[in-house]
Amino acid sequence: MKANELRKMYVEFFEKRGHKEIGSASLLPENDPTVLFTTAGMHPLVPYLLGEKHPEGKRLVDVQKCIRTGDIDEVGDDTHLTFFEMLGNWSLGDYFKEESITMSYIFLTEYLNIPVERLAVTVFEGDSVVARDNEAAELWMRNGLKKEQIYFYGRSENWWGPAGKTGPCGPDTEIFYDMGKEKCGEDCGPACSCGKYVEIWNNVFMEYNKNEDGTYSELLQKNVDTGMGLERILTVINNFKNVYETDLFQPIINKIEDITDTKYTEENKEIYRIISDHMRAATFILGDFKRIVPSNSEQGYILRRIIRRTIRLVKKLGVNRNIVCDIAEVVVENYGETYSELFTNKAFILEQLEKEYLLFSKTLDSGLKMAEKYFSKLEEGNRLSGDLAFKLYDTFGFPIEFTVELASERKINVDMPAFEQKFKEHQEKSRKGAAEKFKGGLADNSERTTKLHTATHLLNAALRKVLGDSVYQRGSNINSERLRFDFSFDRKMTKEELEQVEKIVNEAIEKGIDVMCTEQTVEQAKSDGAIGVFESKYGEIVKVYTIPGYSKEICGGPHASNTAELKSFKILKEESSSSGVRRIKATIG
Ligand code: ALA
Repeated sequence: MKANELRKMYVEFFEKRGHKEIGSASLLPENDPTVLFTTAGMHPLVPYLLGEKHPEGKRLVDVQKCIRTGDIDEVGDDTHLTFFEMLGNWSLGDYFKEESITMSYIFLTEYLNIPVERLAVTVFEGDSVVARDNEAAELWMRNGLKKEQIYFYGRSENWWGPAGKTGPCGPDTEIFYDMGKEKCGEDCGPACSCGKYVEIWNNVFMEYNKNEDGTYSELLQKNVDTGMGLERILTVINNFKNVYETDLFQPIINKIEDITDTKYTEENKEIYRIISDHMRAATFILGDFKRIVPSNSEQGYILRRIIRRTIRLVKKLGVNRNIVCDIAEVVVENYGETYSELFTNKAFILEQLEKEYLLFSKTLDSGLKMAEKYFSKLEEGNRLSGDLAFKLYDTFGFPIEFTVELASERKINVDMPAFEQKFKEHQEKSRKGAAEKFKGGLADNSERTTKLHTATHLLNAALRKVLGDSVYQRGSNINSERLRFDFSFDRKMTKEELEQVEKIVNEAIEKGIDVMCTEQTVEQAKSDGAIGVFESKYGEIVKVYTIPGYSKEICGGPHASNTAELKSFKILKEESSSSGVRRIKATIG
């Protein structure tokens, strides 16, 4: 079966069961998230899992683009990927365990024809906070699984979320496919990494919220959040051994063979796999409408890191010219029908890859020579100093993960604490921001962040009024202290402009305007002049938040109900974020 067929089959299966299809959200989380990328289909749905009403109803289905940076080091094995597509279905306070498990079972066994004996599931064994999930286990058995196919595990295996520090979470039941290998030992089970069991689907019973202080409270509603990796399920149902055999990767692998005049053999399969994975991820990040470019911080850093690693691996195949653009072109061709943003942004994708190639290839050879010199003075098991690792970063543009990889090929370690220290001294600001973002997870939805969110809409509108309509949102991040808003603009704002913007927002606050929310199709919203994210599916209903006289934006919310709640607005800082992008930090109250 091919990917297109499977995506369609999944969506239609759930549509038939009352679900509405929603479009994939951006790979770069909008508004509140403090994570770098969308890592699961539930991210864009957080407000609705917390109780907001979703305009499309209580049953949703989608295919979401995801990036998991935590898996980058595993890439090259049979199943881990940086970019993947997550098939997901949700109940927002509607059905719960019984329907969810039964639907998953029917889809897998009757639609995908997976023999029931090839399935294994895991269930939450319970702890002092939440009871053992006997109900889920019984439901699996009622559907036809034998007791021996059901495994109970604790929190480390069977509790999902929150995606960040706080937010919706709950016990889950994970579904595995048994690849048919022998058990590697007596304790071998779905939690074992020997390769016998491959996780294909996760059903999370999201009925808790993790609070700032680490405690859990019950959510207003019991939700179901599921996620199934498209590449993995395709592998399994086609009886392939790894994700690279699927039609999502074959054209990329063929292209690499073609242009490098090498073959995908046992010997260099890892290089092929990493190149394919990384270029697919890089193409999707660059293809996102938010126009992230390679840089030294946050998402741009991840992008740079995977492109540079690819450039070196291409070199390892013996090719000394730029082929990253050729590979990206295949990705665009292969996915453009499903993700039209890749077609739209094709020129941008290729231009950025070319630029990064030229930039890095200038220093790559001399950097590799320098690294070789450093390593030659060390013995296996020794450590490369933080100073030298930093020099490779600073002078030759070697991302630290790249240096670690080079070193480990020679069984040499890198003094990471010393590198971090050095790095901090030089790049305190930008790197710290990224690290916090990684750690932070999704921002909480407290009252104050809600108000800051409304302030962001007013700020966006005021900026457009003062600086013109070419200003558009490039990123937003809110914590309980302040809002941070990135927007396209190519010079420093003057003091007068900043004052004007502040004045407009404060005027809106003083007027005490009601914030209105309506539900419209994307097309209607657009023709009514709403700004915001227009990548939703045709005809999809979205929420539009209006602050009459000031702002109209497509947005999931939540928001303050009246601008007076913000009390006052103050800009703390205006600075450059990256080329052509400015950043404002501001606060309220
Ligand atoms: N949010 C769940 C996951 O990512 C479904 O596994």
